[in-house]
Amino acid sequence: MTTFTRLADGAPTSISVYPERKLSKIDDNYLGGFTEHMGRCIYGGLYDPENPNKDLIDEHGFRKDVIEAMQELKVPVVRYPGGNFVATYHWLDGVGPREKRPKRPELAWLGVESNAIGTDEFMKWCELVGTEPYLALNFGTGTLDEALAWLEYCNSAQDTHYANLRRHNGREKPYNVKYWALGNECWGAWQVEQMTKEDYSKKAYQWAKALKLLDPTITLILCGENGTANWDHYVLQHCLKPEPHALGGSNTATLIDMHSIHLYTASPSPVANALAPLAAERAIQICASLIDLARITNGVPPSVPRTKICFDEWNVWDPARAIGSEGAEEKYTLSDALAVAVWLNVFVRQSKDIGMANLAQSVNVISPLMTTPQGLMKQTTWWPLLLFSKFMRGGWTVATHVSCPAYEGETEPAWAQGVAEMPWLDVSAMVGEDGWVGLVVVNVHLSEKFEIEVEGVGRGGVEGRRYVVTGSKWDVTNTEQKQEVGIEESSWDGKGKTTFLPSSMTMLRWKA
Ligand code: AHR
Repeated sequence: MTTFTRLADGAPTSISVYPERKLSKIDDNYLGGFTEHMGRCIYGGLYDPENPNKDLIDEHGFRKDVIEAMQELKVPVVRYPGGNFVATYHWLDGVGPREKRPKRPELAWLGVESNAIGTDEFMKWCELVGTEPYLALNFGTGTLDEALAWLEYCNSAQDTHYANLRRHNGREKPYNVKYWALGNECWGAWQVEQMTKEDYSKKAYQWAKALKLLDPTITLILCGENGTANWDHYVLQHCLKPEPHALGGSNTATLIDMHSIHLYTASPSPVANALAPLAAERAIQICASLIDLARITNGVPPSVPRTKICFDEWNVWDPARAIGSEGAEEKYTLSDALAVAVWLNVFVRQSKDIGMANLAQSVNVISPLMTTPQGLMKQTTWWPLLLFSKFMRGGWTVATHVSCPAYEGETEPAWAQGVAEMPWLDVSAMVGEDGWVGLVVVNVHLSEKFEIEVEGVGRGGVEGRRYVVTGSKWDVTNTEQKQEVGIEESSWDGKGKTTFLPSSMTMLRWKA
């Protein structure tokens, strides 16, 4: 958590870090990814067998450079196969001999789905990357029977039909998929089989019961909206309750393990753009209260751990600018990179309530990573993501305090300015198991630098490192030819004042 004192413009600013005050454990799953059958994410992103440059492709047809990039990020978990795509997806179409798999019209993005990649290929890709799969169930045209069959196919060690089908398809051992989503954005007008909150709650609860009877070890994720909607309130009230029948009388669990919410941010105004994730922070806080309210209303015993939020789609995206049915290939600016840094700061600050978060998406579609026939292009947003992935994991959120002036203009969404503080410096900090502290300061001001002595570093200085992500102007982008935005690394001794440049993200690291 970061507390904030608002100062007048020009007043001396300060940042204090308290590494000894560990507030909450960070779940590294906040660095999760998402791969949907959409645009060039799966076909052309993960899987590119026709690429003439054979050095880029492994024996399965996967892009080696994409796998290496995911490994560099140490992506802990990847959501699949959608997204909106999942509302008409029949998993059985995507298993067994490839040549026999049916091609289907695809109704989310209006393409044709070849089914060349399905469950077994995705699991293989996850194994190669070293990440955990997170599967979303079809709540549109799918049935409970199909969902149970998929769970059996993936997780069962018994001598039963779908477990045997998996063996027949070449995989003896169960995959033991832990994370399963009960649908995706079922509230949305764009969904095949859009539902009312009443219909969704009834169906989700009954599906959850059956799925947990088949495999009580799974983690089930309820489909929420944005954390502040009536939908969130209602589905939590109706699904987050004690369930002694399906859980063998357990008083340490409920059927629902996490509550999913989604938000994409974007604004043509660079400061509003960079600060827009602060709306998500408020949404997380409100959603956590809705979770508590459901516990109180429904008498969930204290022995049941608090349901966490699964922010399983987040990013900078303007769907009018990068149209979904055209592949949503956003070109990210420095301002977008700062927004991603603020998003990640939000997850670190709110780690008490975040069980998982998934950047939407991992490759090509609204992604930091773009495949070309020759290799990989790293967009501006790759660099803050890389720094968080390398250094802001495996530890605890620590208390910080920032005193600085604040932005007072219009925000995106407009309500954010009324319900959240908008400091020019967005700050988070953590301490790892190894005692290393990471402090991230995003200066969203377009022209003003801040010079600050960071308090809490320790007398006499440290042997620390400084990483800065910035560029010549807020709207620069990276191209195949030129990386306008990257990371500048230097040593940092913690003595005296540190400069935080305009339009920059700075990460400082030192051993406490
Ligand atoms: O990530 C792109 C799309 O955005 C997803 O398919 C959908 O869930 C959301 O609306």
